[in-house]
Formats: sequence, C-alpha cells, structure tokens
Amino acid sequence: MSMTKGRRHLGHRTVGAVALALALVTGGFLADTHVRGATPVSAEEAAQAQQATLRELADQRGVRMGTAIASHHLNQSDYARTAAAEFNSITHENDLKWETVQPQQGQFNWTNADRIVEFAEQNDQMIHGHTLVWHSQLPSWVADGNFTPDQLRGVMRDHINTTMGRYRGQIDTWDVVNEPIGDDARFRDSVFHRTLGVDFIAESFRMARAADPNARLFINDYNIDGINAKSNAYYDLVRDLLAQGVPIDGIGMQGHLISGQLPSDIQQNIQRFADLGLEVMITELDIRIQMPATQQKLEQQARDYETVANACYAVSGCSGVIVWGVTDAYSWVPDHFSGEGAALPIDENYQPKPAYWALHEVLGGDGGPVDPPPTEEPTDPPTDPPVGDCEASYQVVGEWNDGFQAEVTVTAGSNLTGWTVTWSFTGGEGVSHAWNASVSSSGSNITATNVAHNGTLSSGQSTTFGFVGTHNGTVGTPQLTCASS
Ligand code: G3I
Repeated sequence: MSMTKGRRHLGHRTVGAVALALALVTGGFLADTHVRGATPVSAEEAAQAQQATLRELADQRGVRMGTAIASHHLNQSDYARTAAAEFNSITHENDLKWETVQPQQGQFNWTNADRIVEFAEQNDQMIHGHTLVWHSQLPSWVADGNFTPDQLRGVMRDHINTTMGRYRGQIDTWDVVNEPIGDDARFRDSVFHRTLGVDFIAESFRMARAADPNARLFINDYNIDGINAKSNAYYDLVRDLLAQGVPIDGIGMQGHLISGQLPSDIQQNIQRFADLGLEVMITELDIRIQMPATQQKLEQQARDYETVANACYAVSGCSGVIVWGVTDAYSWVPDHFSGEGAALPIDENYQPKPAYWALHEVLGGDGGPVDPPPTEEPTDPPTDPPVGDCEASYQVVGEWNDGFQAEVTVTAGSNLTGWTVTWSFTGGEGVSHAWNASVSSSGSNITATNVAHNGTLSSGQSTTFGFVGTHNGTVGTPQLTCASS
C-alpha cells in the first residue's frame, strides 16, 4: 500500500460534517445517535459525501480506532461531531486521572469524567480507561504521602474500587498501571515503588480484577513501540507477571513518535507481546513533525501513520489504535516539545490530513480522492549508498543522571552478509546492555556485530541497533567505523 499518491482536501467541510452527511445518506451510525451541537447539513453536502469515516471502516473490520478527548472541548460542535463520527473508542485525556478524580483523600469529583462517559454512551463508543496507578498527575496527598505499605494498599484499593466500580460495565479496558519503568529501563521512583517495591504492579492488577472482573487490564507506557532496552524490560516484566498468575490482559504501547524516526521493528515488537497471550493496543498515537508543516512532511507523516497502523492490524493480538487527540488544535505536543506539532491525523481546522487518509486506506477504505500531482516542493537529493562496505551513524536518544540510550544505524554500501561497527568512547562512557547487535567492550573500545536477523543487507539498506550506556557526566558522539564481517 503506498501513500505516495496525492490526497484531496475536503475544502470547507470538516471531517465530522462529511461523516454526518454520510450518516444521513446511508442511515449510518450517526442517524440515530445524539451528537451535541450537530449542525444541519445541506443536501449538497450530503450528496457530496462519498467517503466512509474511520469509525465505519474500523467497525467493519472489528478493530478499535479511538481518540483521547477533553471534557471542556465537548461543547464545541466541530470537536464533538468529529469525535463521534470518526472514532469508535474514547479515552479521557486527563479527566479520569487521580488528581482530577480524587484530589483530596475520600473526596471524589466525577463531573468531567462522567461527561466523557456520557458522551461515549450517547454515541455508542467504547471507552479505554486512563489511568489508575501512575506516578504523574497524582495529587500531593498521595505523591508526597508518608504511608506504611498497608496504608498505601488501602489508598490504592479505595481509588481503584471506587473508580472502576463507578464505571463497571461502561469502561471495559483500563490502563491499570501507567509508565512504571523509566527511559533507563529501571523501575521508576514513585510513592508506589518506594513503599511497596515492584510488587505494587502485581497488587494493582489484583485489586483491579477484584474491582471489575469483566474489565480487561493493561499496563501502558511510551517508548516501548520498537525493540529496545525499555520494551525488553517490559517483556521480562509481563512474562514474569503472567507466570505468577497476575491478572494482566494487555499492554498499551503509547506511540508518541517522531515523524521519520520510527523504530523499524514495531510489528515484530507487537508480535512478541501478542505471543505471550496479551492483547496489544497502540494507546496514544501521535507522530510529531518539526514546524512549519510542509506537504512533504505531511506525506512522510502519513507513511508513518500507515506503518504503525499496519503493524498493529497485521498482528491478530493487536486490537486497535487510539490517537492522542481529535485535532491538532488541542494536541499536547506543541506545549511539551518546542517547535514541534501537527502530530494528529486531523488538522486544527478539522480538515483531514494525509495521515487521516493513510489510516483510511489501512482500514480498508479507498484512502480518499486523489489530487492532481502535488505542487513541486524542493526535495532532498537522493542519498547515494555509502562508499565502501557500510557506514554507521550514531544518535543519543535519551540521557539521565548516570546513563543514556543511543541508537546506531548501519547502512550498507554493498551487499553484506554481516557487519561490524567499532568506536572508542573518549569521555568515560560505557555500554551496559544492547539490542539488535552483539556488543563487547575492551576498555573504552567497543565492537558491535550484527545478530542473526540483521546481518544481511543489500546495498543502500539500513538497520538500527541500540544500547543503554553509562556515563560520568559526558555523553559524546564517537567516530564510528563500519566494515563487512
Ligand atoms: O488544568 C491546568 C489548568 O488549570 C492550568 O491553567 C494549565 C496551565 O498550564 O494547566 C492545566 O493542566 C495541564 C493538564 O495537561 C490539563 O490540560 C498541565 O499543565 C499539562 O501538563 C497537562 O498535560 C497532560 C500530560 O499528560 C500531563 O502529564 C496532557 O494534556 C496529556 O495529553 C498528557 O497525556 C499523557 C498520558 O496521560 C500518559 N502518556 C503520555 C501522555 C503525553 O504526555
């Protein structure tokens, strides 16, 4: 499936309006549902409506295509209409988090969370519950509390029982534990880990099962979309939890990604968790780009959405994709990543972007009407394969107190059946563990060789391996040498 064909924009009509028009024409799902603030649709608009919505396509395939929403936007008709028309699943972006629901001990506030649940019910949508036990957006009475283990268990049980109990039968999947492992692949410091050790995870799941025996229970995190140190740590964790009989049903890979920098092994990663018997979901997908957005960047982003969605829907244990917001207008990305944005499939004016049509096509739709060829934009010159056996490039992708994570991309200059990358650290760094390569150290000299699945590369083809390293204050970029082996 190619995303290189041009896409037509839908002029002044919003995505939701097209869906509404379609529903009126076809008697589809919106015809008999109540959409807050829906505006009348002209006969002309109805006649023009030709495309199925993402929701209709996902329903036909029996998969989840969801979005996160914020209760305070629901009185905007475009927002509500689009959320109802395009998605068969809803997640509270912030309104179900502990600090919102139980800001003071024993004082629960359901106003915003209820509003979203009512919206989903009115529109016959699933709800993915986010989230119960998380170190962030936690009220200070919990985060800074000085609890004995039994006191904290009581606090957790009360929060889980009350929250899940309120929505029993309405919320069928839950992020029970969110982000317990840090970028360094170690358990993250939190009141839960400090007080109960790693058992807080198993205990949370047992409490959640007791609170709603019919709900499916997930662990959820970011930067576990490909095979890397952090996802390896999750793999070991959930395998051990399952072996101990802990009631965990699924893993959410959040999918907060950067356009053009997707891991190459997303499907393989999803598959290995599905092979453990877990349901996998992409729970918070957004793919940010460096602003300003150009047509070329949006087309790359569309290919990235296509890659992620295909990776999920190709694995029978992957039940669907949830995007982290209805529209670029309210995405969390620009507030948290300076200079980046436009991360969602629907733009700030509720217009479908190439990424929308990419999802459409992956879900079995026609991918939208085809444009005349897009206007020429300057393109990067084609890159020549490297001269010699291969080249290797080095990128530090995360850094913390005493550690870092780096990725090395090997690009073949001729057909290879094996490769070796060597370098010397000059600032006292070291490698602690690696993936997708076999790495050995001799003092500051490092040698990385391919593993079985990534040694064979044809000329111009690339593969990436990664590692977690240690440092004493300096994280440099070493000179790499690459040779066939
Ligand atoms: O509610 C206050 C408001 O009163 C205040 O005026 C305003 C000023 O900045 O802040 C508001 O709170 C913001 C909150 O979102 C609600 O909008 C916080 O500053 C802001 O930091 C917070 O960001 C949320 C973030 O989680 C917090 O960690 C994002 O909206 C939300 O999209 C994001 O979602 C997380 C998932 O829950 C877990 N996975 C990662 C994902 C992205 O970070």
